[in-house]
Amino acid sequence: MYLNLGYVPKSTDVICEFYVEPKGDWKKTLNQLPAESSIGTWTSLTTMKKSVERLGAKVFYYDKKTRLVKIAYPIDIFEPHSIPQLLSDVAGNIFGMKIVKNLRLLDIKFPKSYVKSFSGPKFGMEGVRKIIGTKKRPHVGTIVKPKIGLNPRDTAKVAYNAWVGGVDFVKDDENLTDQKFCRFEDRVIHVLDALDKAESETGERKMYAPNITAPADVMLKRAQFVKDHGGNTIMIDVITSGFSAVQFIRDQNLGMVIHAHRAMHASFTRNKKHGIAMSVIAKLLRLIGVDQLHIGTVVGKLEGGKDEVLANEYECECRYSKEAHEMMTQKWYELKKIFPVSSGGLCPLHVPKLMGILGNDIVIQAGGGIHGHPMGTKAGAIAMRQAVDATLNGIPLKKYAKDHVELAKAIEKWGRVVWKSKRR
Ligand code: 3PG
Ligand code: 3PG
Ligand code: MG
Repeated sequence: MYLNLGYVPKSTDVICEFYVEPKGDWKKTLNQLPAESSIGTWTSLTTMKKSVERLGAKVFYYDKKTRLVKIAYPIDIFEPHSIPQLLSDVAGNIFGMKIVKNLRLLDIKFPKSYVKSFSGPKFGMEGVRKIIGTKKRPHVGTIVKPKIGLNPRDTAKVAYNAWVGGVDFVKDDENLTDQKFCRFEDRVIHVLDALDKAESETGERKMYAPNITAPADVMLKRAQFVKDHGGNTIMIDVITSGFSAVQFIRDQNLGMVIHAHRAMHASFTRNKKHGIAMSVIAKLLRLIGVDQLHIGTVVGKLEGGKDEVLANEYECECRYSKEAHEMMTQKWYELKKIFPVSSGGLCPLHVPKLMGILGNDIVIQAGGGIHGHPMGTKAGAIAMRQAVDATLNGIPLKKYAKDHVELAKAIEKWGRVVWKSKRR
């Protein structure tokens, strides 16, 4: 009943694509997966009715060689506008079933009516570009470092130096929220003051994303506080906070950009045979409506290690980042695009390769790669912008560095580490 290769999916069905490695029999697995994720359980039921049977999911395609399996779910089993309900269904119990050795959710295709039940990003990439006033160049961002430990005044100083050096966007780190050494409200007040100062000195618009991550009710209070103090952006650790909390904040329509950090995603996105693809997470977050989302760096986290492992990791990271980027920026009904953010282990030297792979529609973020610059944060920010300018003009960094001292210093510090690998 559930494995039905003759089934032609309806335009209203939700279609999930999985990578499946059964432990034993394919047929048994391909009946149990759709059953468990729709109406069934481990045995036949005396309570089953015809009216319920119509809600059963169906495997309508599978390929033993590629292990690709497609399952169609009738739209009526889903509650509109609820990512938690969707996931409890198509990505719930099935991940723990003994009949599968490995299972990975690769994609979900939604019918128009379901997509329309969500608002999507309020600003999206174009809206964020409008705030800063850019058309084509990548935005440059930074994460205040040390990631935790600085007090509000020092945090504001670091942010100010980054902004006047040319950074567009400053954010808190994922584990900084409201700790004793740096109270949230104090930090927001100080950093937003620094933002005003940097804006009036540079004549440029800037953004600061304070990390509001907390239980949902507290997040709302923090978001409101940011708004009341003139902030235009908030940041949420979307995986650790949970989809429900992110939906809750988005649906308040606070009129602020939502920057999404994906800390903890790798616990289920990293293994290429099991878990959930990052591009699926990106799609869900686009439905909910975050405006900026981390997608990985491709080039940033690959220092050191054995060549063969690197090749695989590189290919995976490259594919995953590109897929997520595509999911966030391709046309999808009326939903605005999410601005993809590359962050983690980046410095100016990575910029040409990164832009070569992901294009100009990215926010390039660096923490260590700016605050670790030998001449300090401001010079680090300048070097980052120089790397972007050089790349936009097709000039090799080493050549550009001849009359750009900040970039030259960055090359001096990081050249050997970053350019060691032939891949970069
Ligand atoms: C960090 O906090 O170091 C990075 O943002 C992590 O990057 P990721 O979003 O690619 O995991
Ligand atoms: C982030 O949260 O995006 C990061 O902390 C990146 O930090 P890094 O550039 O120092 O790796
Ligand atoms: Mg971080």
